[in-house]
Amino acid sequence: MRVAMLTGGGDCPGLNAVMRAVARKGERHYGDELVGFLDGWKGAIEGRTVPLGVDQLRGTLPRGGTIIGSSRTNPYKVEGGAERVKAALVDLGVDALVAIGGEDTLGVAHQLAADGVQVIGVPKTIDNDLSATELTFGFDTAVQICVDAIDRLHTTAESHDRVMVVEVMGRHAGHIAAWAGIAGGATFTIIPEEPFDVEAVCEAIRHRHTKGQRLASIIVIAEGAVPKEGTMALQTGELDAFGHVRLGGVGTRLAEQIEERTGYETRVTTLGHVQRGGTPTAFDRVLATRFGVAAIDAVHDGAWGSMVALQAGSIVRVPLSEAVGELKLVDPELYGVAQVFFE
Ligand code: F6P
Repeated sequence: MRVAMLTGGGDCPGLNAVMRAVARKGERHYGDELVGFLDGWKGAIEGRTVPLGVDQLRGTLPRGGTIIGSSRTNPYKVEGGAERVKAALVDLGVDALVAIGGEDTLGVAHQLAADGVQVIGVPKTIDNDLSATELTFGFDTAVQICVDAIDRLHTTAESHDRVMVVEVMGRHAGHIAAWAGIAGGATFTIIPEEPFDVEAVCEAIRHRHTKGQRLASIIVIAEGAVPKEGTMALQTGELDAFGHVRLGGVGTRLAEQIEERTGYETRVTTLGHVQRGGTPTAFDRVLATRFGVAAIDAVHDGAWGSMVALQAGSIVRVPLSEAVGELKLVDPELYGVAQVFFE
């Protein structure tokens, strides 16, 4: 078969590992020819491909990002976009498409599958907010990067008796914040699922600082966190093709409020895209490789419209509709564990 792959949305460590596995089993086991659409759905609309076999993917297992590029292009928001994707698949003789992405990319894959396109989805996002899979690759790497940063911030914050606000990614769900907060020993962790009360955060800091000098307070906040109505103003940014606002900045505004209300010197570190860059952890490499192997098997089983997923430790197939239906939010039980350590 001629199998095309594409990577859409925000990049994530482990994307190359997925493609390497698809290519390896596809080429060596099934005798497939593998190609990649460049820059996500943008390249699919424009019919731009590159060969993407074992040779092209050699040495990419530890490499972050995606060697075929990504974009946030939505074919359904481009004049004739979906039709052009379908025409490109026919013109290029592509029998099957493996779409690797998050809720937006897989949402497009789902719509195309409903239109008869032979597509298989692979879940990807550092946010880990896709339902139907317990984990997405890239999440473990992102959490580890956050925890390394928090450990470093602890020592400098202690030296200066400062409050440190650490803003991490997490648009709709606070999985990264919750994990990084627990693993990094945060004084307070704020997730998008629970509107926060800035005064409660300040109270925790005051309480901690009454215990003596040089007790750093680390406040972890997800970029998508929102204050309780009327407690703090937030700015809004521009929207992308999927209608998402560009986030980043809530940590800075929280830090200003903390310093103003408590009088403690407060600094902010916005980890931003550092969380998405660099080499995947061993866990993410293994998960990505398992997803890649399962995706090419799904292609050869003709399991069109399905997505590979991790459930109870095993790789399974679920309908794409299930994958994009609802976001997976932080389990209150897990957030409860983080709360035990709030001052
Ligand atoms: O969806 C993954 C993610 O990393 C989010 O956590 C974040 O809000 C967004 O992508 C950032 O996207 P971009 O790199 O396009 O600014």
